[in-house]
Amino acid sequence: MASEQDFTKRKLWGGRFTGSTDPLMHEFNQSLKYDKRMYAADIKGSIAFSKALLKAGILNEQEQKEITRGLKLVEQEWANGTFKIAADDEDIHTANERRLSEIIGKDIGGKLHTGRSRNDQVATDMRIWLMDETKTVEKYLTDLLSVMATRAETEVDAVMPGYTHLQRAQPVRWSHVLLSHAQSFANDLERLREQYKRISVLPLGSAALAGNPYGLDRELLRQELNFESIGENSMHAVADRDFITEWLFWASLMMNHMSRLAEDLIIYSTAEFGFITCSDAYSTGSSIMPQKKNPDSLELLRGKSGRVFGQLAGFMMTVKGIPSTYNKDLQEDKEPLFDCVDTVGAALRIAEGVIATLTINPENMAKALTMDMLATDIADYLVRKGVPFRETHHISGRSVALAEQKGCQISDLSMDEWRELSDKFTDDVMDVFNFENSVEKRNAIGGPARVMIQRQVDVLRKRINQQ
Ligand code: ARG
Repeated sequence: MASEQDFTKRKLWGGRFTGSTDPLMHEFNQSLKYDKRMYAADIKGSIAFSKALLKAGILNEQEQKEITRGLKLVEQEWANGTFKIAADDEDIHTANERRLSEIIGKDIGGKLHTGRSRNDQVATDMRIWLMDETKTVEKYLTDLLSVMATRAETEVDAVMPGYTHLQRAQPVRWSHVLLSHAQSFANDLERLREQYKRISVLPLGSAALAGNPYGLDRELLRQELNFESIGENSMHAVADRDFITEWLFWASLMMNHMSRLAEDLIIYSTAEFGFITCSDAYSTGSSIMPQKKNPDSLELLRGKSGRVFGQLAGFMMTVKGIPSTYNKDLQEDKEPLFDCVDTVGAALRIAEGVIATLTINPENMAKALTMDMLATDIADYLVRKGVPFRETHHISGRSVALAEQKGCQISDLSMDEWRELSDKFTDDVMDVFNFENSVEKRNAIGGPARVMIQRQVDVLRKRINQQ
């Protein structure tokens, strides 16, 4: 390659493409540094493609075997770290083909790209790669959900305040809180599985944009590469990146759920709440304050959600204005996708570890329950005695005000005081002041009563195991 100085000289009078590439341009254009992670997908796609070439009579059997042998050697070189990148290797596709021809000779190696373009090749590789990764991420997500289900089932006894506006609202079970987050993740799981069929659409055979003239058997390619369907329009097939946008959106939404879960747990782990303790394995110390134990894992889960959403927003801007079919802008699909897949995979495994190893402090949860949180139950008590809810709400509110004025809990009010508020109150009003009872009364589907927690766990497990 010409030195930078040679290039500058030549550029002054050089015509179109007469000189060498500006080294900076070479660097700018090169995607190998990040797309090399798709080497296995690229080789898989090429081996399948050689079979279609054989069937179309472009390759004979010996040539196809030789190409397969060579490609497997190239794959091995990548796998054991001996692949030598050449200065002119622009991306994983050119690098693999260059090396293949070095190994088996140009006469046969040079036939592999017949009826194919890097445009359908890269789109195919991305999809193969993402299909694999999606299965891995699905496994991480089901692992996390299983841990959440098990915790919810075993820790069903713990009752704690449920919050709205971050103000104590009504008692609920800790399991109910945990499962409320699991519901979001279960929807994410469903969405991840559902979008797989839109990733699994085969572009190969579309060539640059106008299809191939060799009658390549795309059904054979589909079967070889385990795609669910075949792209029906060659122009769309080479340029469509919706499967990436959709994945990035999926990741953004899932990380939003992750962030909200993390935020709850961070709050619950403060000394002020003390409902949970994060295990040492997922906490770090402070460099200056020896007493500190910080929930860094949870803060990173919360923080990384912003990064993932940023990739989605950035990528949508990248693709929004490009003209039909392939343009080099599309090379910008890789880094955001790779980064999101890595981030999401790590986040799911860390979340699983955090949830599996934290400890709950049921006594602190119980201590945070105050009788005013049963004001709604007082209203419900009167409803059962025939008082219209709007009125019961008012009466119950007055009992809270009275207790506040007296500096006591509503459960400390005397029977006379209750009867003054409403003649419908009898001795059994005292039964209301029991948090466990309050939670158990909420036994309609979706409520925090024991039976409904079990139902949630059962439904959740069914959803995890659905395919
Ligand atoms: N590295 C390129 C990409 O990732 C491969 C496709 C190149 N196609 C082309 N017509 N230059 O998008």
